[in-house]
Amino acid sequence: MTHAVLKIVVVGHVDHGKSTLVGRLLNDTGSLPHGKLEAVKAASEKRGVAFEWAFLLDALQAERDQGITIDTTQIRLKTKPRETIIIDAPGHREFLKNMITGASSADAAILVVDAVEGLQEQTRRHGYLLHLLGLRQVVVAVNKMDAVDYRPERFAEVSDQVQSYLSEIGVTAAHIVPLSAYKGDNVVARAKVLAWHAGPTLIEALSGFKSQALSTELPLRFPVQDVLKLDDRRILVGRIESGRLRVGDEILFSPSGKSARINSIENWGGKVPVIAAIAGQAIGITLDDHIFVERGQVGSHPIAAPRESRVFRVNLFWLGNHALEPGQRYKLRLATSEQVVEVERILKVVDLDDLKSEAITKVDRHAVAEVVLLAKGALALDEFPENARLGRFVLVDGYDIVGGGIVASADAEVARLAEAVKSRNLFPVGHRASLEARWLLNGHKGGVIWLTGLSGAGKSTIAMEVEHQLLRKGRQVYVLDGDNLRQGLNSDLGFSPEDRTENIRRVGEVAHLFAQAGAIVITAFISPYQADRDRVRTIQPEAFHEVYVKAGVPECAKRDPKGLYAKAIKGLIPEFTGISAPYEAPEEPEMTVETEGHSVESSVAQLLDYIESAFALENRENESALRG
Ligand code: ADX
Repeated sequence: MTHAVLKIVVVGHVDHGKSTLVGRLLNDTGSLPHGKLEAVKAASEKRGVAFEWAFLLDALQAERDQGITIDTTQIRLKTKPRETIIIDAPGHREFLKNMITGASSADAAILVVDAVEGLQEQTRRHGYLLHLLGLRQVVVAVNKMDAVDYRPERFAEVSDQVQSYLSEIGVTAAHIVPLSAYKGDNVVARAKVLAWHAGPTLIEALSGFKSQALSTELPLRFPVQDVLKLDDRRILVGRIESGRLRVGDEILFSPSGKSARINSIENWGGKVPVIAAIAGQAIGITLDDHIFVERGQVGSHPIAAPRESRVFRVNLFWLGNHALEPGQRYKLRLATSEQVVEVERILKVVDLDDLKSEAITKVDRHAVAEVVLLAKGALALDEFPENARLGRFVLVDGYDIVGGGIVASADAEVARLAEAVKSRNLFPVGHRASLEARWLLNGHKGGVIWLTGLSGAGKSTIAMEVEHQLLRKGRQVYVLDGDNLRQGLNSDLGFSPEDRTENIRRVGEVAHLFAQAGAIVITAFISPYQADRDRVRTIQPEAFHEVYVKAGVPECAKRDPKGLYAKAIKGLIPEFTGISAPYEAPEEPEMTVETEGHSVESSVAQLLDYIESAFALENRENESALRG
C-alpha cells in the first residue's frame, strides 16, 4: 500500500529562519532522537556559544554524512494523521536543482519570510520557483514575530506585501501564519501572544494539504521500464506512477497507440495470485496479445490516456554551462522515455529579481525560462498540473543534467507558437461571439475539408460542385482553390518545395480564419507534403478533415485537363508534381475519394454525405473541444 506522507519543501531568503523553523518542527513534533537536543545544547554550552536550532540540523547533517541515518536528504516529522517529510535540508547546495529536476518532488511548500525584513530578493526568487514548479499548496510563515513585538500591524504589512507578490505570479497562499520559530510560537503550539491570529498554526495549515498518495485516484500511468522475455512470455515491468490497474483491463500504450488486455500481474513466485496493483508499486504484467511495446511507452486506460505531442511549452530551470539557445538539441527524459528535442523558441526569460520577462533568445545558467521544445518523435506526457508524474522532465547533454522543468502546455496553440512569429508586442483579442453562437446561426458547424491529390485528380471539380450543392441547402461554404489563390494572395510563390510549403501555410491560416467565422471551407490544393498538411491540422485538429482525392499519375496524365502533363513529360515544366516532383499520399486521411473509374456525381455524393454528418449540429461529439 502507498503510505500517505506529505512531502514539503521549506524555502525562503537565507537569513529568514528556515533552519530554525525545521529544528523547531522536529522538536515540537517529538521527532528528534531521544537526548539529541540536550546533547547539542550541552555541546554549545561547552564551546561557550548560545544554542541555535541550526546547530541541531548541522549535527543531524553530520550524522547523515557519516551514513548513520539511512536517508540522506529527507527529514521525517512525526505528525498526525500522517507523517511529514521535509525534502532536503534548507540551504543544501543541490536544493534548487533537485527541486526542479524532480529528484525531489514536493506536495506543498512553506515560504519563510522574516517579519522584520519583509519580502526580499530570495523570497521572490523562491516564490517564483514555486510557481514554475506548479506547486499550488503553499503556506507562508511570517517568522520572527517576537522581534516585532508580535504586532498585528506589522504582520498585516508583510502579509500584504507577500500576497501581492504571489498574486502577480499566480500563486495563492492557502494560509499566512504569524509565528516565531525561535520561541516556538504558532509552529506546533498555539501562542497566547498571537491570540489575535484567527487562522491555523503552521502544523494545522500543513495538515490541510493533500499528499500525493492520492495519485492512486489519478488516471493510470504505467511507464514501461523494460520488457523481459521469459520463455515465450513477455513481461512488461515498470512502476505505476499513478492510478490503478487490474487483470482484464484494456491498456493503451502511448505513443504507439496499440492496446491489449492485461493477462496477468506477476506475483514473482508468491502463492497468492495478484489481480490488481496501484500507484507506487513496481510490477510486471503480461498481455493477452502480442503487440509491440518498448521501454519509454506509457500504459493507460484508453478513456484517460496521456497526451501525445511533439511540441510543448515548458517552464525550465537552466543549469548548463553554456547558454540555452534556439536550435540546440538535447536529450529529454520524461518518466522512462528519452527523446531528442530541439529548442524551438524561447518565449520568455524571467529575471527572478524584478520578474521582468524579456523576449530575449538566450537563457543563461541558473535562469528560468518559458520555452517551446520540439521532439523528434511523439512523446506521451501530461501537463504538469494534471499529473505531475508525467509532466516533469530533465534535459541531458552527454551525461550531464543541464536543465529540468515541467510541461506547462501541449495544446495546438503551442504547436503554432513553434512557427516563427517575427513581431513582438502582439496582444491577440477575443471575439465577443462564440464559435458555437456562429454555428447556431448557420445551423451547422464550421471546419476545413482539405482536399489533396495530384493535378487532374478532380479536387477543384469536386470542390466546386460540392460548394454549389451545399449553398443550395443554405450552408455557409467557400472553396479555396490553388490556381485561384496563386493569382492573388500567393502570386509571389512558385513550385519549389519551399514555395509550396509557404503556399500551404498561408492557405491553412486562411482556411482556419474562415472556419473560425463558422464556415465550411473546402480547399483544393495539391499540397504534396504530409508535413505541410500535418502542420495545418495542428491549427485546429478537431475541425480538420484530410480528404485524399485519389487518382494515379497515368490516369491524371491521360485526363490532362490543362495539357500540363504533356508539357511536363516533354520537360517543359520543371518540378511538376507526379512527373518531376514528389507527391506524398496521405498517411491517415479522414476519407479517400477514389476518382479513377468513378463518376464525378458519385464522388460528389460521397463527400457531401461526409460533410453533412461531420458538420451536423446534432453531432455534439468534439463540440467542447472545438469551443476551446
Ligand atoms: S501546391 O503543390 O502548392 O499545393 P497548388 O495546388 O497551389 O500546388 O497549384 C497546383 C496547380 O498549379 C496545378 O493544378 C496546375 O494547374 C498548376 N501548376 C503549374 N505548375 C505546376 C507544377 N510545377 N506542379 C504542379 N502544379 C503546377
